Amino acid sequence: PPNPQMEESSAALKRANCRGKGGAPGFKVAILGAAGGIGQPLAMLMKMNPLVSILHLYDVVNAPGVTADISHMDTGAVVRGFLGQQQLEAALTGMDLVIIPAGVPRKPGMTRDDLFKINAGIVRTLCEGIAKSCPRAIVNLISNPVNSTVPIAAEVFKKAGTYDPNRLLGVTMLDVVRANTFVAEVLGLDPRDVDVPVVGGHAGVTILPLLSQVKPPSSFTQEETIYLTDRIQNGGTEVVEAKAGAGSATLSMAYAAVKFADACLRGLRGDAGVEECAFVASQVTELPFFASKVRLGRNGMEEVYGLGPLNEYERIGLEKAKKELGGSIEKGVSFVRS
Ligand code: NAD
Ligand code: LMR
Repeated sequence: PPNPQMEESSAALKRANCRGKGGAPGFKVAILGAAGGIGQPLAMLMKMNPLVSILHLYDVVNAPGVTADISHMDTGAVVRGFLGQQQLEAALTGMDLVIIPAGVPRKPGMTRDDLFKINAGIVRTLCEGIAKSCPRAIVNLISNPVNSTVPIAAEVFKKAGTYDPNRLLGVTMLDVVRANTFVAEVLGLDPRDVDVPVVGGHAGVTILPLLSQVKPPSSFTQEETIYLTDRIQNGGTEVVEAKAGAGSATLSMAYAAVKFADACLRGLRGDAGVEECAFVASQVTELPFFASKVRLGRNGMEEVYGLGPLNEYERIGLEKAKKELGGSIEKGVSFVRS
């Protein structure tokens, strides 16, 4: 049977390889967990991204099928599949950007922290692979609980001597995407015209939308503020319950992941003014990691922005967020250190 890894025509490869070297920009991107609920639509959308010249799809199951399917799309990126731990090194070698949606999702009644037991080990193994095979790659970490998996990744990279805090970004874009949607609904605007900064982390009360800083400038009643904050903080649970045991957000997450990955690639290309929220190493609060707006550039994250002026409701929310976030960060750090 045809093997998608062998199917690349040499012309396609030549085209892919010369991009990024003086020709049109083209980046090498790997998706780890590419056969999953997020991984598949994410792989499809990245195959459609003109900034991607080579797309590596890695999973411990079903990678060949997803790769064969996606490789038939008549877009520019060359797609290669990688199956199982023994192919991890080949999947990662030479990559500019690695996106990680590998790991188990929630079922109704679970918190994201309930996923720690399984996903912490998965993220550690994958990050050990990154440290070995593409230590300069930008990493977009999606696997939950993000509040702990980002500190795990940082510790793995520190141990390996490859840690660059500017290249490790926890993906909180879905919180922003949801916030834009829900706020636009309340304001009667097109969501594409709305920008809501969401800071803190990616679980429950650690998700802190800054409604006082919405663009375009808008005011909300107390009732609207409480409704919106609660809906944004519980958007993930809303989907988990609606899916009733069949997993968590996958399609909106793939959309959000591509929006974020595209911003990282535009930054790498050298575009000016690329800014998105992400969960990163930070000095914005006393915590070592925190989500806030960052500027993306040729070296990954090039600037972390402060929180700006908060209203009383947001200041109280910030204290609650920090309390929970501190414990989740510590849990991730000690998983690798002990
Ligand atoms: P899924 O179960 O559908 O897919 C996960 C994929 O990971 C599977 O294909 C599985 O084979 C693969 N996998 C498992 N172990 C692996 C390993 N060691 N190496 C490579 N691949 C491995 O789950 P999903 O719905 O795609 O969700 C994936 C993760 O993303 C979950 O942890 C979920 O909670 C998280 N998530 C995060 C956000 C966010 O905003 N950051 C949003 C949605 C989901
Ligand atoms: C989300 O926000 O949708 C994800 O973190 C998945 C989840 O478990 O809620």
